[in-house]
Amino acid sequence: MRVLLLGSGGREHALAVALLRDPNVTDLLVAPGNPGIAALTRTLPLALGSIDAIIDLAKGENVDFVVVGPEAPLVAGVVDALAAVGILAFGPTAAAARLEGSKGFTKDLCAEFGIPTAAYARFTDPDRARAYVRNHARPTVIKADGLAAGKGVVIAASAAEAEAALNDMFAGSFGTAGASVVVEAFLAGEEVSFFALCDGSRALAFGSAQDHKRLGESDTGPNTGGMGAVSPAPGLDAALEARVMGEIIEPTLRAMAARGTPFRGLLFAGLMITADGPKLIEYNVRLGDPEAQALLPRLKGDLLAWLLAAARGDLADTSIRFGDEVALAVVLAAQGYPALPLRGTEIRDLAEVAALPGIQVFHAATRREGPRLLADGGRVLTVTALGPTPRDAQRQAYRAVDRIDWPEGFCRRDIGWRAVAREPEA
Ligand code: AMP
Ligand code: GLY
Repeated sequence: MRVLLLGSGGREHALAVALLRDPNVTDLLVAPGNPGIAALTRTLPLALGSIDAIIDLAKGENVDFVVVGPEAPLVAGVVDALAAVGILAFGPTAAAARLEGSKGFTKDLCAEFGIPTAAYARFTDPDRARAYVRNHARPTVIKADGLAAGKGVVIAASAAEAEAALNDMFAGSFGTAGASVVVEAFLAGEEVSFFALCDGSRALAFGSAQDHKRLGESDTGPNTGGMGAVSPAPGLDAALEARVMGEIIEPTLRAMAARGTPFRGLLFAGLMITADGPKLIEYNVRLGDPEAQALLPRLKGDLLAWLLAAARGDLADTSIRFGDEVALAVVLAAQGYPALPLRGTEIRDLAEVAALPGIQVFHAATRREGPRLLADGGRVLTVTALGPTPRDAQRQAYRAVDRIDWPEGFCRRDIGWRAVAREPEA
């Protein structure tokens, strides 16, 4: 089968590796891809912001199936547009992608169908929003309604901070995403990422991970796209997983189907494990980055068959298997990230590191210039190690990271710390 994968990050590099392991993928094209992916299979230039350009490429290349990596094309309706020209794609329709595209939509759905989440209110009027935060307990969480690349969330410790965040969002700091705002109660607990493969009516658990969103060690500093992840998520045992499926994922699927917008694709639930059980923080409608770089190396079985079954609406009543090992993924970012990453610096010794046993190196923002590999954005590489325990995977991941010669790059040194802390002393 001739498959087109859309995207260019570390997540798509991990998806490409997993798809190429599947013997049913006879031909994999990735657009636009990156230099790491280009070393594995054919990549093609593409402006992902243009649905027309995507359709032209998929038709011109005669592809049988399209796998969509990032959220923006899903929210913009790429799956609908492909269906309209007779091409099957993995991912939700625009109507179902609202689970990620509008935080207010998801909160209203949770309220209507009794899905556990933080108490909230929605505002489009700045004065009303300001009045509300003055009268509510702290901390308050302020969120831009629309897509903001993981950056449209402020946890405000005081009313003044909450008002400043509201002023900022209504003034357009997140563009139209901030014209509507959700204000919600702060949830205390441990955060985990949970994945479910969905075919519109059925959902199969698709593993878990724990991401580190903050820039600084011990989870401090500004939010980023994600500085590293460990899979499986620590503490998410079978009993808790069953609750997440029964209380959150399955009711969401029923709700979306009842509304006439069934969800097909990968549903990524950001969860807080609170003292009263799991609560939904937010949905994403695709795999996470860097969660995918930790999760997919543990997947057993053929990825394409799962994705096709979900897209066709006929997932079998079975379970998806992941290896027992722990995968730990460390993101290497360019100095200056997230504000102003330094571009164009050279990365050396990557091939030797990628060849180490148990290590995989995924590219995100890199560029080739002749024989040289250059950093070309914020989150540049992800290094994943597989090991029998979190501590072992962590040790191996940093040993590999330290062999990469890139003085202008940096990473957090404590990825997986919660998982390591839960481990009994060796
Ligand atoms: P989101 O983009 O909605 O996932 O929010 C980004 C991050 O903000 C989450 O990963 C959480 O760490 C944090 N967050 C969001 N909502 C809440 C909440 N209600 N309580 C506590 N932390 C939250
Ligand atoms: N790492 C979080 C995300 O992909 O949204």
